[in-house]
Amino acid sequence: MKLLSVKEIAGLEADGRQVTVKGWVRTKRAVKSAVFLEVNDGSRLSNLQCVFESPEGEMAEELAKAGTGASVAVEGILIPSPAAGQRFEVRASSCRVIGEAPADSYPLQKKAHSMEFLREIAHLRPRTNTFGAVARVRNRMAFAIHEFLQAKGFNYIHTPLITASDAEGAGAMFQVTTLDLDRLAKSGGSVDYSKDFFGKPAYLTVSGQLNVETYCQALSRVYTFGPTFRAENSNTSRHLSEFWMIEPEVAFAELSDNMELAEDFLKHLVRTALCDCAEDLAFFDERIQSGLIESLKAVLDKPFAHMTYTEAMAILEQSASAFEVKPYWGLDLQSEHEKFLCEKIAGGPLFLTDYPKEIKSFYMKQNADGKTVRAMDLLVPRFGEIIGGSEREERLDLLEKRILELGLNLDAYGWYLDLRRFGTTPHSGFGLGFERLMLYVTGMANIRDVIPFPRAPRLADF
Ligand code: 4AD
Ligand code: MG
Repeated sequence: MKLLSVKEIAGLEADGRQVTVKGWVRTKRAVKSAVFLEVNDGSRLSNLQCVFESPEGEMAEELAKAGTGASVAVEGILIPSPAAGQRFEVRASSCRVIGEAPADSYPLQKKAHSMEFLREIAHLRPRTNTFGAVARVRNRMAFAIHEFLQAKGFNYIHTPLITASDAEGAGAMFQVTTLDLDRLAKSGGSVDYSKDFFGKPAYLTVSGQLNVETYCQALSRVYTFGPTFRAENSNTSRHLSEFWMIEPEVAFAELSDNMELAEDFLKHLVRTALCDCAEDLAFFDERIQSGLIESLKAVLDKPFAHMTYTEAMAILEQSASAFEVKPYWGLDLQSEHEKFLCEKIAGGPLFLTDYPKEIKSFYMKQNADGKTVRAMDLLVPRFGEIIGGSEREERLDLLEKRILELGLNLDAYGWYLDLRRFGTTPHSGFGLGFERLMLYVTGMANIRDVIPFPRAPRLADF
């Protein structure tokens, strides 16, 4: 017989049919002569309750071994449940323990564990309600991203992870090398990169944007979705050293088109989470972030707010005493400023546009004022920036000048500049941080808890 998941069993009629359930025991209770096993296989949040009436002999021996965390196979019939809160249960006729989980050493006993403790056992935490729900929502969101963009005619481009170009020009890159660093250090000489694996310095990419722009200038609507790496020393609940990013790029699109796409995209993802992950979101609402579902629904109802950086700064300056870092024109907004603007002023997601060029990347289109660029960040309550994007500088002379002004190496960007030399177009794109999206739809507080194995400064376990 084909093995059904708990989720599949939940779709059946509780008409006394025979079923086999395989999963892990969440709890075991004895009530009078009966034993109740709550079995979970991760296919959904809820467990399947399996009831053993008066177990004896061999079955009683097996049940004695079926403690929290043990893997089991249970056979029985599916019947309507007399208990509140569940439609059906399994009246079990047999139980086989596949793998025991001794109570004195299994770390996940039936009690509330702190997120910090669970991070230390990241290999076992998917077996908790919270991390099971995070994994299912993450899976659904990844698929919804492709669904949305594919339906709009975007081509998925696989951009490289190893690169010689600094896509953001910020220098926060991890170096990739096969040189023997110990020997080099001892020799005291300078590094000869012609002897390195790629014959020159190479790095893990901070963004797929520059590479995806090349395909944009041929296929018009493209995106990349993959891991990106940042060697910034940011030890916060919003930063990872390895995170996933979705970067759509559209030819002939201006900043307003870019923002429209970003808004439709985020709303689609929120709608999908509400619709297809209802059980998991209800759990997050109840246990993690009260009011989550209400606030996500509210996002769907009204258009996102828009403001220029300069307008936002004027508002922030009026409330300067509310902040640790004093706001002034030219400051790169801190998360406290971003949160203030969303929560206190916009009451929801907010697009900020036209940032000072000094705090944004070299490739952004320069405005006629000589001071600002056609950038847009989408800010949301609770943690601030979820999307960063811009219209790109398509004018060769201005782009070259900006690269030189910033002290970046013009030769290294030769291929990127070719896109402006040959058939240049106005074009725009953005990056949605996948884990920031996960914080948004789950209400989880720390970005390290929405990716299976977080990488952050001094943290690369598992
Ligand atoms: O604003 P960022 O740095 O923009 C880019 O990388 C552009 N190349 C995107 C583009 O225009 N194609 O990053 C984009 C998004 C941020 O808004 C944030 O959601 C996320 O990526 N992000 C991070 N997420 C987790 N940890 C970090 N260290 C992050 N840095 C950025
Ligand atoms: Mg940004």
